[in-house]
Amino acid sequence: MSASIASRRKLVLGNWKMNGSLAANASLLEALKPVCTGAVAQVGVAAPFPYLSQVQLALAGSDILWGAQDVSAQASGAFTGEVSAAMLAEFGCRFVLVGHSERRSLHAETSEQVAAKATAAQGAGLTPVVCVGESLAEREAGQTLAVIEAQLAPVLALGAQAVAGMVIAYEPVWAIGTGRTASPEQAQEVHAAIRAQLAALGVPQVQVLYGGSVKSSNAASLFAMADIDGGLVGGAALDAKDFAGIVEAAGQAA
Ligand code: PGA
Repeated sequence: MSASIASRRKLVLGNWKMNGSLAANASLLEALKPVCTGAVAQVGVAAPFPYLSQVQLALAGSDILWGAQDVSAQASGAFTGEVSAAMLAEFGCRFVLVGHSERRSLHAETSEQVAAKATAAQGAGLTPVVCVGESLAEREAGQTLAVIEAQLAPVLALGAQAVAGMVIAYEPVWAIGTGRTASPEQAQEVHAAIRAQLAALGVPQVQVLYGGSVKSSNAASLFAMADIDGGLVGGAALDAKDFAGIVEAAGQAA
């Protein structure tokens, strides 16, 4: 993921959310390994905490990165149920999602906490994948770009050096798990606004992913847009054939 600093290489990350089992993960990863080895696009999967060790072992020697779906902003101590960035880094985790809309809405995470998690992740050498996105009500009220700007503000305030080592994921909440994908033009409009903010900070090369009902059938048109550098994929990441199709579409758009 350090490639984000220089190259805007296409990147496809699977977000398994709270899905999987030892058996299901094993067969999914076995199916993905041959497809992703040598792929043009960079590929990663974000697994639930208990399966990270299984994923690490299964992916040893493969090109597929693996990461977590959340991390504590704290270093250690009396934070029952939390997992620190150092713990994730200790056994080879490369990236972590921060600020997924399900964390923001179900766990009341603020944009300031998201920025603190990104800092904690970077402190342990992990790449934070910072997720932002507006709700349907916000979009319909014409607030999309203002919401994204406000969500990004505490993250961008960390400065160019920090942000250069991050990945941003734009995930409109109304498109997540709904089957209702943003049109390529809707997504591009927001990605261009995010890119402008990154450029103003001096880090235009940061990868900006789109997420929200990405499937093999719509990936190519999304990835063809100028400021979309790949996808953060939920439901379709659990289906090896669909995910492989998305990885392939990203490679063709590269
Ligand atoms: P989805 O989820 O692809 O199932 O819409 C995307 C995400 O929440 O990261």
